[in-house]
Amino acid sequence: MTILSDDFARADHAAQFALARTRLRPRIGVVLGSGLGSFADELRDAAIIPYDQIPHFPRSTAISHAGKLVIGELDDLALAVMQGRVHLYEGYSASEVAFPVRVLARMGVRALVLTNAAGGINPLYSKGALVLLRDHINLLGQNPLIGANDARFGLRHPDMTDAYSVRLRQLAKEESAGLGEDIFEGIYAAVTGPSFETPAEIRFLRTIGADLIGMSTVPEVIVARHMGLDVLAISCVSNMAAGITGEKITEQEVVEVGQSVRGRLLALLRAVLPRIHAQIAAQQ
Ligand code: HPA
Repeated sequence: MTILSDDFARADHAAQFALARTRLRPRIGVVLGSGLGSFADELRDAAIIPYDQIPHFPRSTAISHAGKLVIGELDDLALAVMQGRVHLYEGYSASEVAFPVRVLARMGVRALVLTNAAGGINPLYSKGALVLLRDHINLLGQNPLIGANDARFGLRHPDMTDAYSVRLRQLAKEESAGLGEDIFEGIYAAVTGPSFETPAEIRFLRTIGADLIGMSTVPEVIVARHMGLDVLAISCVSNMAAGITGEKITEQEVVEVGQSVRGRLLALLRAVLPRIHAQIAAQQ
């Protein structure tokens, strides 16, 4: 494999590798979280590229994360879909975790839709609820932008005020209403895991304003904003967080609840993605 000296060259190399495998030129990237990966099976005319074939890409080891980049069409809309992601708890740094987002951006993606499974802290939520992220709290102890800044990617200190696009959230709320789907908005706190939290940690997180808790998404959002992508992030509440109901949390329920909301999430994405595409086109 070619050794390239910087992340920009590595991201470009991986992007060119992926684009050489398809005639499609997606403007929207989608990242699928735990138990949500089957969305990628809906794509037609798909180029399916396992992460271990893509130069410089991290390998996914997490449960129920397939580890494939699928470039295909959903209802004639070209998408670049990451079926599975990597996490800090697998031993990767925040910048390694977010590297695939750099690749999507170098492929020409302008908007990123992230999905994840998360624990519900807000007592208004219940298992299976869908929540649009409106902000986050980074408790990873890491930031993917630590190290020398490459100005070709973005600014040294990118603004995070509207990290989760107000307009894209508005579109998602409108489409949810049209589908009769009750959707929430909430604040996502990111921790490294891999152990789930203690009830005392969850009480702390509730006090500091978190509605959801999860082990992903935040590094990807930071890198996406660094590169100027619009971000929409949707959590599926796979379990109520530790101590909220007293029930124990199992990995299996995280995956199973993800699978059970699949249909609702797919319907929402089907409705929202064309509108995001129209929005990007209008900006150009
Ligand atoms: N905590 C952290 N991450 C999670 C959880 C949780 O309860 N559920 C799904 N991802």
